[in-house]
Amino acid sequence: MKFLGIETSCDETAAAIVESGSEPGLRLLSNVIASSAELHRAFGGVVPEIAARSHIEYMTPVIEQSLAEAKADWDDIDGIAVTYGPGLGGSLLVGVMTARTLAITKNKPLYSVNHVEAHPFATFLTKTSPALATTYRLPSSPPEFPMLALIVSGGHSQLVLFYDFFNHELLGRTRDDAVGEAFDKVAKILGLPYPGGPSISKAAESGNPTAFKLPKARLQGKYDFSFSGLKTAVLRTLQAECDKDYNFPSINLAKFLTDAQKNDMAASFQSVAVETLVDKTILAADEYQPKSIVIAGGVAANQELRRQLDQGLKQRPIYTDIQLCTDNGAMIAALGCFMAMHNQPIADPYSLDISPGLSM
Ligand code: KG4
Ligand code: ZN
Repeated sequence: MKFLGIETSCDETAAAIVESGSEPGLRLLSNVIASSAELHRAFGGVVPEIAARSHIEYMTPVIEQSLAEAKADWDDIDGIAVTYGPGLGGSLLVGVMTARTLAITKNKPLYSVNHVEAHPFATFLTKTSPALATTYRLPSSPPEFPMLALIVSGGHSQLVLFYDFFNHELLGRTRDDAVGEAFDKVAKILGLPYPGGPSISKAAESGNPTAFKLPKARLQGKYDFSFSGLKTAVLRTLQAECDKDYNFPSINLAKFLTDAQKNDMAASFQSVAVETLVDKTILAADEYQPKSIVIAGGVAANQELRRQLDQGLKQRPIYTDIQLCTDNGAMIAALGCFMAMHNQPIADPYSLDISPGLSM
């Protein structure tokens, strides 16, 4: 079975084709992503209207390229999976309307996929076509259930226990900002480019993680996270460093900071943010004894997170391939393919609606 996955929940227009076979893992045949991140850089964050307009421009060429790279035509495609939430309304609409139109005109079953739920399914891709073999480093076998997933990105931070493909329990989630969002906001304060995750980790390489003492949030929910207090602590510490009071606008702070101060704060912030994620993941792993632990979402690309998890977990986690951590169509196609294989309900191509606030 070959599946086309379409993803447009934020600023990445993505389409991919995956194939199921006799083995448990799936094969990645193509994975095409056109990002509008460059256009948002000047604004320090995603501008929804610009993202939606870019999706309209990129959607058709991205799908055509995904078919071409997979050496597939429409006759080869057995189903279409699309992200219907959560995400930006205007962005989701472009993907969903495209998938609905294709499902009707090409006469294919349509599957609606929850974006957050799909992130860990990128690790079920265990093979590629020969053309992609050097591009991706995939796990040799797929995760097993029960699977504990740490899903961390710009829009979500949660610990989820998957009993099987479609039954899961949300163990904990962020009470305020997502961890990726905190990386993005701290980067903005430090005057580092958007997206903040990669720029903070790069700056952190030259910084001292113990230079600034930042607080770790204590929460009632055993597996819940909070990152907004940490972000505020970064701001207050830097205002004090620059002899400014707490009314001083965060946007003007960066020009008073030396590169050394920026690097030290990047390293100190990253260290505490990552520790928070690692502490709870270890706690959940000890309590639930999952067969597999999967680390997914944009922040899963963070090397400090991987280092601390490798050090703290008794069992080696399965990390998403670096290029499949941030948003992509492959994870959507993968979950859609499993939905079809396990006879999950198909969506109505005449009425499928977006669900921007969808949760797990
Ligand atoms: O999964 P994703 O592409 O989009 C959402 O679903 O939100 O994740 C994007 C987020 C951004 O906040 C970005 O700053 C963060 O992932 N990110 C990172 C790294 N690479 C991307 N955060 C920390 N370290 C990284 N290396
Ligand atoms: Zn995502």
